[in-house]
Amino acid sequence: MKKVLIVFGTRPEAIKMAPVIKELEKYPTEIELKVCVTAQHREMLDQILQVFAISPDYDLNIMQSNQDIYDITINVLAKMKGVLAEAKPDLVLVHGDTTTTFAASLAAFYQQIAVGHVEGGLRTHNIYSPFPEEMNRQLASRLARFHFAPTAANRDNLLKEGIPAERIIITGNTVIDALLMMLAKIQNNPTLQAAIDQTMTQSGYDLPAVTADQKILLVTGHRRENFGQGFLNICEALKEIAHRFPDLDIVYPVHLNPNVREPVNRILSQIKNIFLIEPLPYEAFLHLMGRSTVILTDSGGIQEESPSLSIPTVVMRDNTERQEAVDAGTVKLVGTDKNKIIKAVSALLNDAVSYQQMAMAQNPYGDGKAAKRIADFIRNLP
Ligand code: UD1
Ligand code: UDP
Repeated sequence: MKKVLIVFGTRPEAIKMAPVIKELEKYPTEIELKVCVTAQHREMLDQILQVFAISPDYDLNIMQSNQDIYDITINVLAKMKGVLAEAKPDLVLVHGDTTTTFAASLAAFYQQIAVGHVEGGLRTHNIYSPFPEEMNRQLASRLARFHFAPTAANRDNLLKEGIPAERIIITGNTVIDALLMMLAKIQNNPTLQAAIDQTMTQSGYDLPAVTADQKILLVTGHRRENFGQGFLNICEALKEIAHRFPDLDIVYPVHLNPNVREPVNRILSQIKNIFLIEPLPYEAFLHLMGRSTVILTDSGGIQEESPSLSIPTVVMRDNTERQEAVDAGTVKLVGTDKNKIIKAVSALLNDAVSYQQMAMAQNPYGDGKAAKRIADFIRNLP
């Protein structure tokens, strides 16, 4: 029996690790699987655990209101010591680029436990953008023994850093597995569809009541490097878009980070066609994404999901570790310059040809079998 411990802490990690958990659970005679959540996020993590019916074996419950990255690092590192000593895994699996990812990898390294890094090899090569994620993922690569790279370009980044080819496998991104798993669950399930409708109605944006031709701009934003002036620019841009397109509904599920909520609520709460709502459960969010006309976001995961739903996506970042989506034409980078945001969103709303070009582009992130490739690799380890 191989003992595998999966560790994650935030909403996107949970979404992207859920398919890996489900896949490894298929082999109970080969793999003894345990799940540890750091709960770097609480409510937003719990929403995902519930959707995917995951019951963690360990819950470090570290989230504090308005925590900083020292708090997260210190608490994850200290609490993982005991978990690792008790669980004694042969392999710890971490995901992506959060501070949970880095600190849990370091904790495993200190007990000389092998680390497998899911979604390895993404790079902007600018350690301050995204901050601190670029450094978190570079450090995770240094600490990991096995690297599950979503794309060939991600693998090449790792090879350039001297990581041996035999320790890297190209898997696709597990976010596609999660998306397809959830879409299949929703399809032909009238009970779940009714529950999603009810969630949307209660959210403050009554999606079931809007007409089929209603145009919707879906917005999300939370990046640390955008706090302060960046978020003020984003809010001013949204205000202007709402004014120029009075018939457009702007729907913004606002991240629970107080640094996001303060400017967003202060600047945007009184505008008639802007709907500020709470973070949505994953199924409802996917449904809203699929029904949106354009997405405006600084999220990593949403850049990977939106091409599968054929929704043109404007990304409020200056650079990206997800260049494949830019090259495929599914996303456009605009940074947080107010005028650039307004121009890019207006162009998509006004110009049917450029809209269609972006909507038709193919998703470069995989075929929904990433989790199986990861599980097969682990099962075949000596
Ligand atoms: C974190 C990750 C980021 C990831 C993002 C996904 C780090 C440093 N940042 O950023 O890489 O892209 O999650 O969303 O690892 N809060 C709640 N409830 C929740 C979640 C957050 O109240 O369920 C509030 C708390 O006040 C918390 C604050 O948001 O202190 C910030 O959470 P934190 O995880 O530090 O940062 P994020 O911006 O969420
Ligand atoms: N998401 C969600 N509910 C929301 C907003 C986003 O379930 O209200 C999902 C979304 O589909 C994607 C993930 O959360 O899979 C993205 O998380 P986030 O933007 O917080 O983090 P990032 O991807 O930037 O690390």
